[in-house]
Amino acid sequence: MKICCIGAGYVGGPTMAMIAHKCEDHTVTVVDINEARIDAWNSVELPVYEPGLDEIVQANRGKNLFFSTDVDSAIREADMIFMSVNTPTKTYGVGAGRAADLRYIEKCARKIAEVCEGDKIVVEKSTLPVRTAESIKRILESNAEGRKFQILSNPEFLAEGTAIQDLQNPDRVLIGGDQTPEGKAAIQILVDVYAAWVPEERILTTNLWSSELSKLTANAFLAQRISSINAISALCEATEANVDEVAHAIGTDSRIGPKFLKSSVGFGGSCFQKDILNLVYLCEHFGLPDVAAYWNSVIEMNDYQKHRFARKVVSTLFNTVSDKKIAVLGFAFKKDTNDTRESAAIYICKDLLEEQANLSIYDPKVPEAQMLRDLELGEKDDSITVCGDAYEATKDAHAVLVLTEWDEFKELDYKKIYDAMHLPAFLFDGRNVLDLEALREIGFEASGIGKG
Ligand code: UDX
Ligand code: UDX
Ligand code: ADP
Repeated sequence: MKICCIGAGYVGGPTMAMIAHKCEDHTVTVVDINEARIDAWNSVELPVYEPGLDEIVQANRGKNLFFSTDVDSAIREADMIFMSVNTPTKTYGVGAGRAADLRYIEKCARKIAEVCEGDKIVVEKSTLPVRTAESIKRILESNAEGRKFQILSNPEFLAEGTAIQDLQNPDRVLIGGDQTPEGKAAIQILVDVYAAWVPEERILTTNLWSSELSKLTANAFLAQRISSINAISALCEATEANVDEVAHAIGTDSRIGPKFLKSSVGFGGSCFQKDILNLVYLCEHFGLPDVAAYWNSVIEMNDYQKHRFARKVVSTLFNTVSDKKIAVLGFAFKKDTNDTRESAAIYICKDLLEEQANLSIYDPKVPEAQMLRDLELGEKDDSITVCGDAYEATKDAHAVLVLTEWDEFKELDYKKIYDAMHLPAFLFDGRNVLDLEALREIGFEASGIGKG
């Protein structure tokens, strides 16, 4: 079978690499209108950093895995077309700030309608509002002229930083489609692709709308757990409780479970906030304001947590950070990724810049240009310095902020860092990854999240 994927981003690239790797009989072509991105996929420096991705791409690229800007040919030749384009939050018009911006998806659907010749199976890989498949179907069918399209929803549950692991060994694969004989046949074709390496009992099939809604709901539930534990972290700080101990204690209840209970500076990433906003918008659209308000509170709590952290830094540093050097360790939204979309670090840095702090930032994977873009600063802005390592960033600093849980931050020589800092030397562990007792023994005024 020939498979085409439109969109060579964080989702499309790794997912298609895995399909090509596991299904040597299929040819997979990933296309994108962004030429620089395709060039990068064809180079030694892939545009997406994921542990294990390089090996898989190298093993299959040029054999049954291709990256190209020739969108039309790839669509024309394919039997199955994945749509994996970006669906950001709308920034204009009705639903701005909440609804999903579907213009890229619609362009994609129109492109498919325009260039393809035979029957196709079209798979939604991007996270979409419920009933988007209906719009895609209408666009395709009104331009069909005798061709037949089956639309499937196959949301991706991979998390960044563990994409290859998640793709290799998924908890489940979800495939939604029409419950007609043709729809079921299309579902089966996609089931057979995944069955090359995923046990059949983990491949769930549903109707289209359940599949679309499950993706939004899964992300909303995951985010809700983080907001819930972060809410408790504020209460821990006001009492003598320790949020890590509370999380462990509740997580041993098999009904709650231990995962996704790590208190932090707030969740980031391209999915959680966007998908909840989308869910909130959908609820309002369907006349369910109470349900919308319930899910919106997950985002409000996340915003609260980010600003609360910045406020705590300022108040601890004697209510002023103006002209003080503040070292920021970590800028990515979590470890093992170069992605900064919605990273809590962006909001915290902006709050501190507003207080006129001088930031020196170090992240092992995020390039300087990306940080400047995220902070909306020009190239020569002297309020921030981007450093090549943690020691340079923390030298002469008044405070150190750990905002991403990179493993290397656990291995740093904190005595050396302490000796080069202004006193009192403050350290705020926004990820609860450091040993605060050991840091206090060195002399740091160290605090974590939710440590009363
Ligand atoms: C609860 C806790 O489970 C228990 O650990 C604690 O010590 C006391 O409170 P209980 O109130 O006896 O126990 O019953 P539980 O089984 O938790 O159910 C509580 C309510 O939630 C019931 O009305 C139940 O019908 C409802 N429920 C439970 C749901 O609506 N959906 C569910 O999935 C589970
Ligand atoms: C998420 C979902 O996990 C994935 O299934 C979906 O397909 C896309 O969205 P991702 O955004 O890549 O994946 O990362 P994830 O590991 O879920 O982390 C999201 C954010 O939550 C990060 O900022 C992370 O640091 C934060 N987080 C996660 C916590 O603060 N505490 C936790 O316990 C877990
Ligand atoms: P995700 O995290 O969902 O993978 P990304 O933004 O990383 O999102 O990737 C989406 C990709 O889709 C981008 O590289 C973008 O250039 C590409 N794209 C968007 N619209 C089209 C289109 N009409 N045709 C081809 N590629 C597209």
